[in-house]
Amino acid sequence: MNNLSVVENRERFDLDKYLRVAGATRPELFDWSAPGPRLDDDSLFCLGYMMDIELHTIVYMREMLSTQVIEDPAITAFLSCWGYEEFFHSRTIAKLLESQGASIDEQRFVELRQRRAADHLEQKVARIVSRLTRHFPAIHMTWGAINELSTLTGYQALADRARHPLLTTVLSRIIKDERRHFSFYFNQARIRLKDRAAQLLTSFAVRRFWSPVGSPVRGDSDMRHVCRTLFSDARGPGRLALIDSTIARLPGFEWFDLASRRCLGASPRQAINHANRLANAER
Ligand SMILES: [Fe+2]
Ligand SMILES: [Fe+2]
Repeated sequence: MNNLSVVENRERFDLDKYLRVAGATRPELFDWSAPGPRLDDDSLFCLGYMMDIELHTIVYMREMLSTQVIEDPAITAFLSCWGYEEFFHSRTIAKLLESQGASIDEQRFVELRQRRAADHLEQKVARIVSRLTRHFPAIHMTWGAINELSTLTGYQALADRARHPLLTTVLSRIIKDERRHFSFYFNQARIRLKDRAAQLLTSFAVRRFWSPVGSPVRGDSDMRHVCRTLFSDARGPGRLALIDSTIARLPGFEWFDLASRRCLGASPRQAINHANRLANAER
């Protein structure tokens, strides 16, 4: 299923069904006895970055739950399972890295969280702003939609790049979960962005503060490394343009092109033209 068909299915997001099936993607699901060929260093770097983002979900969830989002039972039901699933994505990717000979030190996660001391201030600001406007959840839901779609696009790009049997099996399974996450957030964002004030507030926040998923956790330099690895090939700009055009379908988000701009430093059209020129030059 491509990203657009996920959007077409958005009306059908079924919370009860999600709650029944959530949490199945765990390390025990996979056969680790045949780790396959060694992945290159860039692929391993991307996997490490992805593992860190997945584990950071609990911190992001704490930020979300400190706002008025906690008053919505549908959102809190979803978040309960979402956090569980993302935690096991991180564990599964850690197992994948270990199958490649990497050793994962728990201290890594402690250090990442200590680096993010600014979280506390952001959390306080978010809590205050959240009390001032009933539209605050629109920002979180839109943010979630962009990040889930970026994440699943990144996983797909890594699977296509690496062409590694075990990695493809694991990531295909994780991508299925990410599609459901995206569907939930997109559906919620669409509903909460009906109001013009919500559109203006959310557009402002996204324009001003959004950066590619993981960069607030791992830093801009690592984010650029991942973007270069996953999206600088001929198909990369098209993948990012699809994120942009999908998010642009949200009310008030017709302007959205930040996946391309902040990942490749160019508009979707410029990035695709550049990729086409490179592909033609190689022929
Ligand atoms: Fe995940
Ligand atoms: Fe997710």
